[in-house]
Amino acid sequence: MELIDFSVKSLYVHIPFCKKICPYCDFIKVLENPKFIESYMKELLKDISFFINNDFKFNTIYIGGGTPSILSDGYLEILLSNLSKIKDNNAEFTIECNPESLNENKLKIFKKYKVNRISIGLQTFKKSLLKTLDRDYSIDYFELINLAKKYIKNINVDFIYGLPKQTIEDVKEDLNKFINLDINHVSLYSLQVEKNTEFYNKGIKEISSDKSAKMYNYILKFLEEHGFKRYEVSNFAKPGYESRHNLTYWKNEKYYAIGIGASGYVSNIRYKNSGNLSKYIKGLREKEEEILTLEDERKYYLICNLRLADGFNINEYNAKFNKNFLKDYKDEINFFSSVEAINIENNIVKCTNYGLLTLNLVLEKLL
Ligand SMILES: C[S@@+](CC[C@H](N)C(=O)[O-])C[C@H]1O[C@@H](n2cnc3c(N)ncnc32)[C@H](O)[C@@H]1O
Ligand code: SF4
Repeated sequence: MELIDFSVKSLYVHIPFCKKICPYCDFIKVLENPKFIESYMKELLKDISFFINNDFKFNTIYIGGGTPSILSDGYLEILLSNLSKIKDNNAEFTIECNPESLNENKLKIFKKYKVNRISIGLQTFKKSLLKTLDRDYSIDYFELINLAKKYIKNINVDFIYGLPKQTIEDVKEDLNKFINLDINHVSLYSLQVEKNTEFYNKGIKEISSDKSAKMYNYILKFLEEHGFKRYEVSNFAKPGYESRHNLTYWKNEKYYAIGIGASGYVSNIRYKNSGNLSKYIKGLREKEEEILTLEDERKYYLICNLRLADGFNINEYNAKFNKNFLKDYKDEINFFSSVEAINIENNIVKCTNYGLLTLNLVLEKLL
């Protein structure tokens, strides 16, 4: 059913079910329903058996959603035990969790199957903002994270900033509370208002780029002062806690993806599985495929690697694509260096802070 490429070392697994649909969410998600969950899990296990039968061993496995932590203990056991068969001994094994569905029993199951990283969507500490997001605001995040720490060392939390009526003071408060959680990874996303979401239909607007940049700069300075390194536009980690799985995406490396709506990249093909649940549970595996030329791969390389604070190595780029970066982009390099959007040192090309904030403009010129 899949292309076989044993050099692929990462796998993404999508669990689309959610307890309720958040008004800002544009991910592939489905309201939970026991019948659908049962059929979906049956099909997903078939997809996993392809990797088991072919003796794959992944360095990173990421179970994302939707809400993977919504699965019952029984389904989590089945899912994780099967995935355990296709991971390397020292693999990074991540599961995404929502605060309201994470509990001690699930944490014990994660530990039993050597899940060694969890990512929890907190979004904000402020109850009135959580209400705007239609999220459960009754949970004590400190209690929850302290419980999680007893089982798993490597924890990420997600925040969203630029929420309606959120002030910079609110963002500061979220960051201060985050530091008190004493964990090693955080993702901070600026609110995106996408079509077909309740926020969009209500006319909620994203904050201005000026206000967003102000918040982002504050976040960056604050987290750097507290020992976090920004290693990607929205991701900050203490040394050694960078997400190996997400780095696969940003370094433009290959990964399989199973489950509805999930995107993968194998050989020279980028694919996106159909988001149609009824077809999936009938055993149909439709997907859109983009067959990449070397030139397409070169563009993806730039799009991905320029998001990384560490940038990319010019020699690697030149060898991979048979190009001469400094010569081909002479004018663009002069321009972006003069406005301090990119920086080239020791053969490494990186976006500066300003370059990351205006990444779309930088890429527009380079692609
Ligand atoms: C795959 S999503 C869902 C994770 C999980 N179901 C949850 O809601 O906590 C991962 C993260 O994307 C972020 N996110 C979701 N919708 C967003 C939006 N419209 N704008 C910015 N960030 C968003 C949230 O921080 C969320 O935790
Ligand atoms: S934000 Fe998370 S919980 Fe909310 S609908 Fe989207 S995937 Fe589900």
